[in-house]
Amino acid sequence: MSHFQQGIFDRSHQHHVFLEFTRNESAVESDARAALARLADLALGTTVRVTALGPTLWRELDDAFSFPPFSLDDKAPSTQGDLFVWLQDSDRGNLFDASRAVAGSLGAAFSLQLEVNGFVYHDMRDLTGFVDGIGNPQGEKAHQAALVPPSQPGAGGSFVLSQKWVHQLDAFNALAETEQERVIGRTKKDAVEFSADDMPADAHVGRTDVDHDGVPQKIWRRSVPYGSTSEHGLYFLAFSCDLSRFDYLMRRMYGMTGDGITDRLLDYTRPVSGSWWYAPTQEWLSALREG
Ligand code: HEM
Repeated sequence: MSHFQQGIFDRSHQHHVFLEFTRNESAVESDARAALARLADLALGTTVRVTALGPTLWRELDDAFSFPPFSLDDKAPSTQGDLFVWLQDSDRGNLFDASRAVAGSLGAAFSLQLEVNGFVYHDMRDLTGFVDGIGNPQGEKAHQAALVPPSQPGAGGSFVLSQKWVHQLDAFNALAETEQERVIGRTKKDAVEFSADDMPADAHVGRTDVDHDGVPQKIWRRSVPYGSTSEHGLYFLAFSCDLSRFDYLMRRMYGMTGDGITDRLLDYTRPVSGSWWYAPTQEWLSALREG
């Protein structure tokens, strides 16, 4: 019996740090492996961590299956990295210490290419003011959406999509609230989803609450806002049993699925990074420590 990384489903923490690393050219496989073993060995106190690997590093360390680097036919930026570490804590100080410890443990094998400090905004809202995550599957359905099923390569692990999005909040906030609701497809105050009859074809929920070949494209989203007064947005983070769900949902958003309809949300926010990863089981990570 394998165990998923608990942090994927742990929603008890207010503060988040997302660290994306690239592997340095000089680091051979044994260097990368040793760095990952040191990382796996780190005791981080109260800080919860989730570790995931990019496609190149994964293929080198485990040949059970492979997956491609992030791409959306150049419609969205790809900044595919090699190692992803997500840290969560209720205490900002502990989180800072843990971030430094993680980066330090990797030594010269990896370089930090993106660091985002995120936070839960009010009652789990995106900075647009809309509740984000309420449409997530619940309980066992969340596990089914996020974890690779037992019969498949990578069973018990999870595919991950991370994208840093930068919002144009002034433009979004200039819309009347009823118009903002038509961009999202839910009401703002109480997050009530529009009925099928009322859902605009280009609303975000209209584009992403969808079946493909008869299969609901459910994913488990754990995005949080980040930013300062000058630059801010959403660090989009989601887990899936199947990488193709991310691809299909993004194609729906970017008008690449035949109907040509683009998600209206794209008028108000844009991604500046994009990677996908595989988050292996707890057992796979523990095995690194044993060499
Ligand atoms: C800045 C970017 C984004 C923002 C601000 C955003 C915000 C939201 C909000 C407010 C909702 C409605 C509440 C909820 O259902 O949780 C939602 C739903 C959803 N979003 Fe996004 N989202 C973003 C990007 C994405 C991306 C890139 C994907 C897919 C790759 C995605 C997939 C979904 C899905 C699957 C749902 C639930 C649909 C359903 O009801 O089943 N979102 N998003």
